[in-house]
Amino acid sequence: SRKPLIAGNWKMNLNHLEAIAVVQKLAFALPDKYFAHVDVTVIPPFTDLRSVQTAVDGDDLKITYGAQDLSPHDAGAYTGDISGAFLAKLGCTYVVVGHSERRTIHGETNEIVLAKTKAALRHGLTPIVCIGEGLDVREQGTQVEYNVEQLKGSLAGLTAEELSKTVIAYEPVWAIGTGKVATPQDAQEVCAAVRATVAELGGADVAAGIRVLYGGSVSSKNVGELVAQPDVDGGLVGGASLRPDEFAALSAIA
Ligand code: 13P
Repeated sequence: SRKPLIAGNWKMNLNHLEAIAVVQKLAFALPDKYFAHVDVTVIPPFTDLRSVQTAVDGDDLKITYGAQDLSPHDAGAYTGDISGAFLAKLGCTYVVVGHSERRTIHGETNEIVLAKTKAALRHGLTPIVCIGEGLDVREQGTQVEYNVEQLKGSLAGLTAEELSKTVIAYEPVWAIGTGKVATPQDAQEVCAAVRATVAELGGADVAAGIRVLYGGSVSSKNVGELVAQPDVDGGLVGGASLRPDEFAALSAIA
């Protein structure tokens, strides 16, 4: 009975003018009736957010939006960083935290991811906390232990109420941008372990309520069998979210 969530992570693609066009095409391809069974959100670059807000508010769209990162701090001398307060003021619903590209390229540790998760919660944003193993771990077959440890490190000390307000995204690094999607069984294995870990940390009710997404080469061709898994509650979509018709098709299937 968890409503699926499809989140389109645009990464560093589409400027603020292109963003308006994509959101309008997406809205046209995804009439309001679909939102009864799926939540759809777009996660554009920071510089697009004001334009996306205007498009969404202007046409009273059911699509929500969020950001790809935030500062662990609320304000101050942090050149180049963006506060969760600003994102909340812009009407963001979600913020992605700990994406593997930030963990790898920007050296974000579990401690940093945790601090960002807390910052998101402080400002009423829903953090989409990302975890996922690389190919080396997958080849060793230790993906469950690896992801459970990363998850525990990224959520350490959160209260049950805080946990209930998070979304977890399992994105195996080897599946991101490669066209090599995890099998539904592989996705289910880790997503089930994620839910069991949340149950340990916050209790059975919290675990039963939170949404666990799969990410990594999700498309309209594979989303159906992924979300059919009992513990997969939607997708974090990269490349396919840049094409409004494809993203709408995928969302309609979820
Ligand atoms: P792709 O869908 O392009 O593989 O990207 C997945 C991703 O990293 C979403 O956050």
